[in-house]
Amino acid sequence: MRISTYGYLFQFFIGLLAARANLFQRNLAYESPFSEHPQLAHNTNFLHNIHLEGRQNVDAGPFKDTHYPSFYGSNLGNSPFVWGGGVNFTHAVASGDPYDTSVILWTRAFPTSSDGSRPDQSVPVCLKYHIGLSSNISTQTVDIGEAYTSYDVDWTVKVEAKNLRPDTKYFYRFTDCITTASSPVGITRTIAASDTPASKVNGGKPLTLAVFSCSQYQSGWFNAYGYAAQNTEADIFIHLGDYIYESLGNGAKIGRQTLGRELATIHDYRQRLSQYRTDQNLVLAHQNAPWITVADNAWKSGTANSNDTTEGCGFSSSGACFTDRKLAAVRAYHEWMPIRQIDAGDKLRIWRNFKIGKLLDLTMLDTRQYDRDVTDYLTNSQVVDSVADFDDRSIMGAAQEKWLLNTLSESKSRGAIWRIIGQQVIFSQLEQNGERKFGSHGVDDAWDGYRANRARVLDHLYDNKISNTVILAGDSHANWVSDLSHPNDTKTYNPQTGMGAIGVEFAGTAVTSGSSFGSGILPDKADNISRVLVGTNPDLQWSEGSFRGFFTLTVDASYLNATYYAMRNITYANLDGFISAQFIVKAGENKLRRPVAGGVVKAGVLKSQVVAGNL
Ligand SMILES: *[C@@H]1O[C@H](CO)[C@@H](O)[C@H](O)[C@H]1NC(C)=O
Ligand SMILES: *[C@@H]1O[C@H](CO)[C@@H](O)[C@H](O)[C@H]1NC(C)=O
Ligand SMILES: *[C@@H]1O[C@H](CO)[C@@H](O)[C@H](O)[C@H]1NC(C)=O
Ligand SMILES: *[C@@H]1O[C@H](CO)[C@@H](O)[C@H](O)[C@H]1NC(C)=O
Ligand SMILES: *[C@@H]1O[C@H](CO)[C@@H](O)[C@H](O)[C@H]1NC(C)=O
Ligand SMILES: *[C@@H]1O[C@H](CO)[C@@H](O)[C@H](O)[C@H]1NC(C)=O
Ligand SMILES: *[C@@H]1O[C@H](CO)[C@@H](O)[C@H](O)[C@H]1NC(C)=O
Repeated sequence: MRISTYGYLFQFFIGLLAARANLFQRNLAYESPFSEHPQLAHNTNFLHNIHLEGRQNVDAGPFKDTHYPSFYGSNLGNSPFVWGGGVNFTHAVASGDPYDTSVILWTRAFPTSSDGSRPDQSVPVCLKYHIGLSSNISTQTVDIGEAYTSYDVDWTVKVEAKNLRPDTKYFYRFTDCITTASSPVGITRTIAASDTPASKVNGGKPLTLAVFSCSQYQSGWFNAYGYAAQNTEADIFIHLGDYIYESLGNGAKIGRQTLGRELATIHDYRQRLSQYRTDQNLVLAHQNAPWITVADNAWKSGTANSNDTTEGCGFSSSGACFTDRKLAAVRAYHEWMPIRQIDAGDKLRIWRNFKIGKLLDLTMLDTRQYDRDVTDYLTNSQVVDSVADFDDRSIMGAAQEKWLLNTLSESKSRGAIWRIIGQQVIFSQLEQNGERKFGSHGVDDAWDGYRANRARVLDHLYDNKISNTVILAGDSHANWVSDLSHPNDTKTYNPQTGMGAIGVEFAGTAVTSGSSFGSGILPDKADNISRVLVGTNPDLQWSEGSFRGFFTLTVDASYLNATYYAMRNITYANLDGFISAQFIVKAGENKLRRPVAGGVVKAGVLKSQVVAGNL
């Protein structure tokens, strides 16, 4: 197989010499972990140079090669230049982090052999990407390029397609440079240029964002993704964290047993991501629209069962300390997700901002890993509770907090109408019988465990009269909709009319993970809990705790409307869902429009439905 492709390879190689493009560098997966941290990075220049100069390019005689300096130190001596035996696009395609003139395209190309022999995994695979305006990509190709992938990055390929038109739908695919193998066609889009008038964004049609969180494989089928891809007009998919879970669980009874073990090493994380991405509804959702994501559960040096103290390292299933585990997780995440690495010098930074014309700023935060002070992980609730009010506690870290406040001010001064903040944990206060509730980990895992930090954000909005801020949250495995105001402040804020609020929070339930009201809880029982909650918490206007699902935001210059979707059954693959509630926010009003949800919901409980005496 390889012998017969040498002639082709030779021509290909000469073409390459002329271009002298570093095709390892074109694959952004090699930037994972971090191109400016030499001890953790792949040296793509070195890889490139030995492939150009070290390889024999005159005939197909014996190769005299220096070793391929992979991350694992594997030996690629005497191997052909690139794999010519064909590839399998094992996980279709995905795209993400759209800008006005560029977008990230992703695929995975595993080497195959036509005679069934085990493919030689020691050589790179070369892929071409094509992006164009028509689903017949060969007719209107806009950008085309090549990139290598290899064992070092789990055969993932992540390229930035450039020179695109703003606010435009595109089709793309990958092909093998050597054989005719081709990936499925994906659909993606760019966003409007930052100076586009709000009324012109998305060709004057409302822009639709679909928002997800907490998708645990062993807990259910990812029907919510498929429903959004097929039954909504979602332009961009947003994931607020817990895209994968580290635990093994027991999903066998619904055909969802996770492979491997509790995640610790790079291999573990890759295997888990690979398995999640076999769910056909998730595959479809990635293939049909760009995603903007943030990840997952922890504080800056630990989780509930792994941390950087001696006992913590010993406790973890692999013996890996938390920092090693975190770096493995970050690296696999950057390989598998179509996400941009915003700052090569800051290995953990995923907080970033998207200016979508003058319609909105979409500001994605990391209220988990980046620089968060110790959180509640159930066994230490009392300690965290005793420090929850401390001024210097931070959920974001000082650098990110400063950046957030500046980004909000800058968004206002550049004249953007809406500020949508996508982040992981519940912002508003959720109390039940004097207890703070409903982080997925413990009572103070959410912003309620970082109260001074929450107050600083609210003060910044009030003091600077920053209107039209909408906070999105995941994590809690239940639905919550609130006006934004200082907790318990019924002087400035009126819960009946919404007057005095400074924005809105839309928090969404899990794609599959079990309800925080009790896994599998039925609607009647969940509604009893919701009744207490909407009665107790002044800002909370709707609570729903039974259904798994997602929500969409439909945004134009005058309105931001939220539609909550409930999936009826996640124990098998299906698209049986319904709209549980709809909310309207009018630009400039900074509150949910009254009557909230038009006074009627198909699931959960509205504050207005609870007798006034309970308020
Ligand atoms: C391609 O990869 C998928 C997923 O791993 C696998 O199910 C399929 O059998 C592979 N196809 C070929 C032709 O190797
Ligand atoms: C795509 O366009 C090319 C060039 O116009 C044409 O030859 C080909 O038949 C088209 N393919 C499809 C599937 O329409
Ligand atoms: C670290 O983990 C160990 C083992 O689970 C636990 O006993 C200890 O309290 C943790 N320490 C911190 C600071 O989180
Ligand atoms: C709001 O009031 C409740 C009930 O008095 C109290 O438990 C809670 O700590 C208060 N919240 C804040 C943020 O002060
Ligand atoms: C809900 O609460 C009502 C009133 O307390 C009670 O009668 C009913 O049994 C509860 N329903 C469930 C399912 O717990
Ligand atoms: C929001 O809902 C209102 C009331 O139904 C409607 O008039 C408006 O067109 C909707 N706007 C968007 C952007 O969905
Ligand atoms: C979901 O579907 C399964 C399989 O048909 C069924 O056994 C189960 O009762 C259903 N669950 C719900 C909540 O309807």
